[in-house]
Amino acid sequence: MILSEVVQHRLCLNSQSQPKRNIPKFYSSRNVAYFSVLCLQLKSDLDKQDGNLKYILTGEGAGSIFIIDESNGKIYVTQKLDREKKAFYTLRAQAINRSTQLPVEPESEFIIKVRDVNDHEPQFLDGPYVATVPEMSPEGTSVTQVTATDGDDPSYGNSARLLYSLIQGQPYFSVEPKTGVIRMASQMDRETKDQYLVIIQAKDMVGQTGAFSATATVTINLSDINDNPPKFQQREYSLLTVVEVLRKFRSTVALLIFAEDSDIGENAAMNYFIEGDSSDVFDIITNNETQEGIILLKKRVDYESKRRYSIRAKVVNRYIDDRFLKEGPFEDKTIVKINVEDADEPPVFTLENYVMEIAEGAMTGSLVGVVTARDPDDDDCPVRYSIVHGMHLKRLFSINEHNGTIITTKPLDREIASWHNITVTATETRNAEKISEANVYIQVLDVNDHAPEFPKYYETFVCENAVSGQLIQSISAVDQDDSAEGHHFYFSLAQEATNNSHFTVKDNQGGVIHVAL
Ligand SMILES: *[C@@H]1O[C@H](CO)[C@@H](O)[C@H](O)[C@H]1NC(C)=O
Ligand SMILES: *[C@@H]1O[C@H](CO)[C@@H](O)[C@H](O)[C@H]1NC(C)=O
Repeated sequence: MILSEVVQHRLCLNSQSQPKRNIPKFYSSRNVAYFSVLCLQLKSDLDKQDGNLKYILTGEGAGSIFIIDESNGKIYVTQKLDREKKAFYTLRAQAINRSTQLPVEPESEFIIKVRDVNDHEPQFLDGPYVATVPEMSPEGTSVTQVTATDGDDPSYGNSARLLYSLIQGQPYFSVEPKTGVIRMASQMDRETKDQYLVIIQAKDMVGQTGAFSATATVTINLSDINDNPPKFQQREYSLLTVVEVLRKFRSTVALLIFAEDSDIGENAAMNYFIEGDSSDVFDIITNNETQEGIILLKKRVDYESKRRYSIRAKVVNRYIDDRFLKEGPFEDKTIVKINVEDADEPPVFTLENYVMEIAEGAMTGSLVGVVTARDPDDDDCPVRYSIVHGMHLKRLFSINEHNGTIITTKPLDREIASWHNITVTATETRNAEKISEANVYIQVLDVNDHAPEFPKYYETFVCENAVSGQLIQSISAVDQDDSAEGHHFYFSLAQEATNNSHFTVKDNQGGVIHVAL
């Protein structure tokens, strides 16, 4: 038994490319009408064409999908076959003798394969796609790969053979027709455009007529690389002003300068520097949030001594991509001109501490010393002096409020207090809030205003047999006055004792006195 294909063209009806001549025949069996297509014919070698043979078809789809004309073995297909649902049918055929009902030859098994037609569209199952590629990547750099699938038979014909092409994305990207690999077609700068929408089409039938197609969008983001140096907004910053800082210096925010960098994130991170002489007066730090350079004062500036600074500031990217270094250093420079503004400063004493001396016992009104303070500001406001009197302090001094001359108001006694430490102030006449202080240490110098004294009353006994020149008693003296090299006392017998005396006093320089017979 052989099974031969009767119709040479495709049997399955669901392709638009179905030839016209394949018009279904009308076939009737048991009052059921089928549109059917003749496709195959069974033929037994023993068929003598006398109508005595009867063909029988059994198996998958027999009687429903496949109907046989039992007189001539022609097999009709009654419905569309879908290869993707069922690729083959296993059927058995038999030829029997009509009169004897006996098989004329053994049953044969046939497999009817459903031949593929292109009835499936390609599909991008993973789309839409998102991919990221570093900016400035060289031409040909692979960005991503897109893959479409097709339900048709990959082993037969071109129905499942896909061809990829670029619908949108030229001239920046290209796609490999067979693999769907998307590549860079030119170098692109993120700072110009950072996102591209690429549309890829996949066509089956290798793109020929009758092909189905599908498209997928691919969003391609360019990631940043450090290809831009920082750049100061201004070549020169001028007319920036810093107020001179007053007595107690504390670094305050002075000025802000800013360099732009078109890169983002770490690639835009920058450090600022101050170059040259001004770096001992000014410092600069980076605000990492805003990338601003904050100029700080390192020490106080004084309007009266320097009113203008011109500082050179530099900005450098923190992380530099070696690839771009040949295009020049990733830095920029600017000049910052800073004016120091005058502040109303309090008077300044010529010294912070004055040390003065006055002899004890000096007359009331004696000159102790002079303090001087001046308003450092341009207007040189006159000052008034005064002494800060503590509650407990006796007023021993006064100051001339106009010229700072300090005089005594009482005689001083070194033996009561050898130092008088006072505080004087200078106040601007036009602004009483502008006030300064200075310490004045006044030492009271000793004068010999105390007589020597015997520390005690001496009572001495002498034996009756004492010999001339014998030491009877040592005496000494004390003195309240100050003496750098120690006191020297001169001892002698009192006038009334000298005339008729049995005793002499021998001064032995050390204050020890021998009283001898
Ligand atoms: C300060 O003024 C007083 C009073 O006019 C005067 O006696 C004194 O000599 C002056 N002192 C100085 C240093 O000018
Ligand atoms: C005043 O100052 C002098 C010198 O600094 C010091 O030796 C002395 O102890 C001080 N006297 C008082 C009462 O503070």
